[in-house]
Amino acid sequence: MMIMAAMTATVPEFLTPKLKSTSMYFNSHGYKIGVSVSQLGWRRFLNPSSSSRVFAVSDVNKLVTEFDPNIPLERASTPPSSWYTDPKFYHFELDRVFYGGWHAVGYSDQIKDNRNFFTGRLGDVEFVVCRDDNGKIHAFHNVCSHHASILASGNGKKSCFVCPYHGWTYSLTGSLVKATRMTGIENFALNEMGLKPLRVAVWGPFVLLKVIQATSRNGEVETDGFVASEWLGTSVGRLSQGGVDSSLSFICRREYTIDCNWKVFCDNYLDGGYHVPYAHKGLMSGLNLETYSTTIFEKVSIQECGGGSKAGEEDSFNRIGSQALYAFVYPNFMINRYGPWMDTNLVIPLGPKKCKVVFDYFLEPSLKDDEAFIKRSLEESERVQMEDVVLCESVQRGLESQAYDKGRYALVEKPMHHFHCLLHHNLKL
Ligand code: FES
Ligand SMILES: [Fe+2]
Repeated sequence: MMIMAAMTATVPEFLTPKLKSTSMYFNSHGYKIGVSVSQLGWRRFLNPSSSSRVFAVSDVNKLVTEFDPNIPLERASTPPSSWYTDPKFYHFELDRVFYGGWHAVGYSDQIKDNRNFFTGRLGDVEFVVCRDDNGKIHAFHNVCSHHASILASGNGKKSCFVCPYHGWTYSLTGSLVKATRMTGIENFALNEMGLKPLRVAVWGPFVLLKVIQATSRNGEVETDGFVASEWLGTSVGRLSQGGVDSSLSFICRREYTIDCNWKVFCDNYLDGGYHVPYAHKGLMSGLNLETYSTTIFEKVSIQECGGGSKAGEEDSFNRIGSQALYAFVYPNFMINRYGPWMDTNLVIPLGPKKCKVVFDYFLEPSLKDDEAFIKRSLEESERVQMEDVVLCESVQRGLESQAYDKGRYALVEKPMHHFHCLLHHNLKL
């Protein structure tokens, strides 16, 4: 059974989106210049003269409209290469794609016990997630209120967060409990200088974050069902049936930094198995590509494939089993369930031409001590990842070539077309 428990933090008024400004200019980080409350939800007062890389919103809009989601896949061209290379498009995209809706950022075992915490980054938002002494889960912007140092790093167990810069100390509920050497400072109230909250939920084995408060639900407490349906839509049942649940044991994490735009990695995942026979010959023998199918949900696409000949071979090593399910959760999270394994891939944008992909591996508990099986499975998986890294970096170089602007889709690339349509929907003005 899926465990679904949503934990929410009350979001103060200052974090609610205010989009009344009609300012038409963005700086290089995609924030509207002259807007006192940005789409990110906290105050930014930007001086146009302070940025040398000011750009007009119409420039970005022009790039967005170069892809038309109303043209069916059979006649459509892919988005232009500028979507994958242009710094101003990248910063605009962070605001529009990553700061609304729920996003997977970690797995629930990372905050299994009281005082556990982990840190990470969602777009340009540095965050820390923790479980307090009463078992309640919180998420905060991981930024010290004093001079903005990143507060916590890595993951582990802590009774409080002590800033490494000047020692200001915050409780696990986000309150500032100690501000060193502030005696004599006027108009200074500890209780006004706590960490800024983010919304957090746990769904199945995954920890989710949301940066912006949904306008229509301002102040309401979400139910488990609401989080599930907002994040996964009607794919929830199919994922549960396919074995995506909390019954598996976390085994390990692997991270890959790749010299490509984050969407190149997603596109590669979403080509309906098109590249498998050419680029993953080892993987191909474990899959029966004749059975490949794709189902499109609202913000999720699920590719499925039966196991290959290895399944019947004597002495065959078979990590994939009889069925593999590859779910893409828009915009940047993949859930792969095959045989006794589940691995998740979180694609973290690090710049217009760089991303990090975090692989978390989970295994049926009965096999978690089978070191030989785990080692061999991870080696096979690693080989596939390295093959994909080469492909993605090659595509990025090609996207930067003058020879290329837009491509075409094959019919099997339906999930990729769906991804591009969702992006367009988020990006259009
Ligand atoms: S920046 Fe954190 S204590 Fe100074
Ligand atoms: Fe691949």
